[in-house]
Amino acid sequence: MNDTETGRFITFEGGEGAGKSTQVSRLAAALGSAGKTVVSTREPGGSEAAEEIRRLLVSGAVDRWQPDTEALLHNAARVEHVAGVVRPALGAGKWVISDRFHDSTLAYQGYGHGLDPDRVAALHALIFGDFRPDLTLILDLPVADGLARTQGRDGAEDRYERMSRDFHERLREGFLAIARAEPDRCVVIDATADEDSVHARVLAVVEERLRAGLD
Ligand code: TMP
Repeated sequence: MNDTETGRFITFEGGEGAGKSTQVSRLAAALGSAGKTVVSTREPGGSEAAEEIRRLLVSGAVDRWQPDTEALLHNAARVEHVAGVVRPALGAGKWVISDRFHDSTLAYQGYGHGLDPDRVAALHALIFGDFRPDLTLILDLPVADGLARTQGRDGAEDRYERMSRDFHERLREGFLAIARAEPDRCVVIDATADEDSVHARVLAVVEERLRAGLD
């Protein structure tokens, strides 16, 4: 982040059915109660243009894109989201919480689809330099549990859920590898626990890492 950006950028990551969106809204409420101005957002999407690109990615045939195309589309959506929403909010001193960010590209397109993770990371660096979240919370749970939780959801956005079990196992390992590689930024949270326990752990980590004034 450059010096003019004073807000904090928190991202949630994890496989399908990890409970990220619930935890994003609960953390946003807690930070709001602590007096922060909070922007909750998501990827792919988060801005009008990025939501257009999202539609290309989350529906339709599982094999509709080459893995490289998919990585480029996620990064294209990210350019719009970062320029239109994330950077302006951080520049105004707001706390931004995003449901997914660049670690999802590394985990899904890199580890999942088999693109070289170094190439995926190089693509990020080419576009965004060293811009990265201040804190990333990786919600981890067994693949079978996560996929079971997604059953019964609206199937309009289920393209990734329909990918193979092996794909999901690989991306879970990918997220854990990312956390091992960047322990200063990433914290793995056990998402098998109940919603209140996960929220309590999220608050503890945010307070410990970012001194958010939560009690
Ligand atoms: P969501 O279900 O969490 O809203 O995300 C939509 C899907 O997009 C999800 O299955 C993960 C996938 N995804 C990627 O494959 N690469 C990315 O870079 C991002 C941000 C999401």
